[in-house]
Amino acid sequence: MALTKFAGAVAVITGGASGIGFATAGALRERGAHVVLADINADGLLKAQEELRRATAGAQGEIFTVAVDVTNEVQVRGLMKRAEEALGSIDLVVTCAGIGRGGPIDTFSSGDMQNLMNINFMGTYNCAQSALPAMRRQGSGYFVFLSSVAGKLGTPMLSGYCASKWAVRGFSAALRAELYGTGIGITTVYPAWVDTPMVRQETEDEMRLLNVQILLTPQQVASEIVQAVTEGRRDLTLAPNPDIAFALQLFTADQDKAEDVMGQAIQQQLATMARQSS
Ligand SMILES: NC(=O)c1ccc[n+]([C@@H]2O[C@H](COP(=O)([O-])OP(=O)(O)OC[C@H]3O[C@@H](n4cnc5c(N)ncnc54)[C@H](O)[C@@H]3O)[C@@H](O)[C@H]2O)c1
Repeated sequence: MALTKFAGAVAVITGGASGIGFATAGALRERGAHVVLADINADGLLKAQEELRRATAGAQGEIFTVAVDVTNEVQVRGLMKRAEEALGSIDLVVTCAGIGRGGPIDTFSSGDMQNLMNINFMGTYNCAQSALPAMRRQGSGYFVFLSSVAGKLGTPMLSGYCASKWAVRGFSAALRAELYGTGIGITTVYPAWVDTPMVRQETEDEMRLLNVQILLTPQQVASEIVQAVTEGRRDLTLAPNPDIAFALQLFTADQDKAEDVMGQAIQQQLATMARQSS
């Protein structure tokens, strides 16, 4: 199942005010799609709309913005209803709304854990559930769900984020099977570190602890997403780094060993950081 014609297609993009969502909106608009940017950040949406209009001047598609909290199912239903009523269909939903939080489990609050699950996972579920009726009526539609390489790995100090991204992965696989034969496709995206405000919010210590190496630009991810949708790819993994590629391979081949290797690496990193600060 693929989406090959973007001209005139209606794309709803959550997290559209920033980062990967914003870049994906640009890539889709350049190809003639109508884009509905949805985000909790109302000011950011207005800026994004202006910037998108400037960056893709001459593009035919409409740009709509809708302020929405993806954890609120009533608001998400309203978003999909507005998109369909205003533009006639919902052809593509890209779920980029998300947050990142890291830290040792001992001090990781239940509030932070709940937020990760609510925004990263329940937000994805709310979008899928609310867009499906229109897609079923159309007999066609496409979802792009943002997971992360953390949705395929067990990364120490990212237990909550990993849990939310594994949830997106499991949900995608089950839904893909459930939607078999309906004309509705799903690409799940698993990027390594991307240069967006989400990553830049980390403190220097957190960046070192998590060994953050920014590897991708939002524009690269957006262009890979568009290509994957065109090909109807189920899995878009973007890990242009030998360490992460090796970890992904090891997790598939021998998860027990991979967990031990990642555990040893974090212990060493913690010991190095403790030595350096003493
Ligand atoms: N940046 C990375 O390294 C990276 C790597 C892998 C996966 N991802 C995933 O990609 C997606 C996009 O992240 P990004 O890096 O572009 O981050 P970003 O911070 O640039 O964008 C995320 C957007 O989501 C919005 N948002 C947050 N909570 C929301 C809510 N409750 N309702 C609606 N909107 C909300 C924010 O306002 C923001 O505009 C996320 O799901 C993230 O987990 C990011």
